Order: sequence, then structure tokens, then C-alpha cells
Amino acid sequence: MDSVSILVLNGPNLSRLGKREPEVYGSRSLEDINKELVDAFPGISFDFFQSEEEGELLEKLFHCEDDGGYSGVILNAGALTHYSIALRDAISAVSIPVIEVHLSNIYAREEFRRKSVISEVCSGVITGFGPNSYHLGVRGLMGMLEVS
Ligand code: DQA
Repeated sequence: MDSVSILVLNGPNLSRLGKREPEVYGSRSLEDINKELVDAFPGISFDFFQSEEEGELLEKLFHCEDDGGYSGVILNAGALTHYSIALRDAISAVSIPVIEVHLSNIYAREEFRRKSVISEVCSGVITGFGPNSYHLGVRGLMGMLEVS
């Protein structure tokens, strides 16, 4: 495989990282987390996209699939994780691997967060490691793609 290109896709409220419930989500902003990913994986080409809008996330996924240049997606869907059948269907509709990640351990939180409607159609799930969840997601994806 040539160069690896990964889309890091973040859903609603993740633009507020650093300010939002730091006791749950930590003190790093989304920009910090994205920069740390670039620094940690210099051989990978990253694209970053965050939106508060479900439809924009779906369109980005389809663009990523149609573009043909992407190896996979790291997705933190925020609260959409727990109820968006539209997002689930969009993940099913694309052939590139999508890795579901969460900063917090969704299985150790409120009842409504313990259900993910997207996990079944994602290639892997990482939850509860703070910003490291994104790094572990990238590592897992690279393993799937057999890239060292
Ligand atoms: C989250 C967990 C979700 O339940 C929540 O709605 C988020 C963030 C996480 O990264 O821990 O917005 O996806």
C-alpha cells in the first residue's frame, strides 16, 4: 500500500473539548488532540473534520468513500453514537473501515450512553482512554491495513 490517509471525524459538541466537562473529557482541545495525532504518526496523512450537524458528517463519509484516497476513518460520533440510525446506515454504506472511538468509557456512564447503535457496523471500537483513544484507533486501523 502507498501512503496511508486517514479522516478523523468528530461529531456534535466535540468542538467544545477543553472547556466542556473537563472532569469527563479532559483539558485538551480538539485542536490539541489533532495536532498530537499528526506529531505521533508522521508517516500518515490526516484530514480532520468536525461538525455539529449529522448530515454534514454523513456527507463527509460519502466524500471520503468516493474520493478513493482514504484508507479509513476514525470516528467520534459524540451523542449520535447512541441514537443515529442515519449515521449507522451511512457507515454500512461505505466500504472503507470506520473505527469508533470515545474519550470516556461509555459503558461506565449513564444507561443511555451504554448503547451504541454504530458499533455493529464499525470495524473496531475504542472507548475510555481519553485522547489516547484516537491514537489507539489509528494503531488498530494500521494493523487492519497491515501497515507498520
Ligand atoms: C463521547 C461520549 C458520548 O456519550 C458523548 O455524547 C460525547 C463524547 C466521548 O468521546 O466520550 O459527546 O463520544
